[in-house]
Amino acid sequence: MRKVSLTGIKPTGSLHIGNYLGAIKPALELAKEFDARYFIADYHGLNTIKDPKELNFTIRHVAAGWLAAGLDPERVLLYRQSSIPEIFELTVMLMAFTSKGLMNRAHAYKAAVQVNADKGDDLDAGVNMGLFTYPVLMAADIIAFDSDVVPVGQDQVQHIEMAQDIAGAVNANYKKPVLKVPKAAIQDSVATVAGLDGRKMSKSYNNAIELFCSEAVLQKTIMRMVTNSQGVEEPKDPDSSHIFSLYKFFADQGEQDALAARYRAGGMGWGVAKEELFRVTNRALSPMRERYEAIIADIPALDKILEQGAEKARPIAAATIKRLRKACGIDS
Ligand code: TRP
Repeated sequence: MRKVSLTGIKPTGSLHIGNYLGAIKPALELAKEFDARYFIADYHGLNTIKDPKELNFTIRHVAAGWLAAGLDPERVLLYRQSSIPEIFELTVMLMAFTSKGLMNRAHAYKAAVQVNADKGDDLDAGVNMGLFTYPVLMAADIIAFDSDVVPVGQDQVQHIEMAQDIAGAVNANYKKPVLKVPKAAIQDSVATVAGLDGRKMSKSYNNAIELFCSEAVLQKTIMRMVTNSQGVEEPKDPDSSHIFSLYKFFADQGEQDALAARYRAGGMGWGVAKEELFRVTNRALSPMRERYEAIIADIPALDKILEQGAEKARPIAAATIKRLRKACGIDS
């Protein structure tokens, strides 16, 4: 049997280049050798997005993004989390094996509490149970599908470890491998994609380059990238430049070597370095942008793909539930 690769993207905000290079592209690479199950974590999105129009659109935006990036729905299961009720039944079952202390230690929850503490607010202000129990739902996403590897960024590794703990607790209790214990798959070379200011590209830092923006906006955004004050004539170090580090993702080896030499020689200003980055980025993204536009223009067809994916996915999750219910003594 082929091993299973599974990952989800939360529909909160526009996809950016960091999502593509750090999550979507490596996951599609893995799909060549694994049985891949990739989904839109829309109930995770509900924790933060309370505007129905926004959530509704962002779910389609993320789905269209996967397809535009090359996901083949004939070979990869693509579905919405909300279409698989078994995930939520599993969540309830896993709750019984998840200590509250484990949730207290989750980074996202701790960060929210810290923000409140710093402001002198009630520590639980703005913390809903969806945020507090986020790792259990995520464990269910993973465990329901017998996942072997979960391609994620560094920020999600703790969540995978929690899924391991929870599956391990179930297996230890019943003294048999009822649930598959997953592993994280972090691709080192793509784990961090730098944003406009050189920090990790992230919605929350407001330093992202949108994946499907127009060519004009792409150019404007790249030209806004932060640089140091080195003048045109000064030699520049490509290896410490986040402009060059992004360039490497989109340029072939010959182009990289040639541009690195121009950095080092001096005589090339940051404006030109950015123009070069725009050129290769736009070259890679244009065909994807066109596919995205075509897919998002036909929502019924897109929804049909997602429904078909869910139809194929549900029996897998149902089999996990059946196994666990039997182990628990709650036969169907
Ligand atoms: N928590 C992930 C993120 O914010 C999204 C996610 C939800 C996920 N469920 C998952 C990722 C299951 C991998 C596996 O990026």
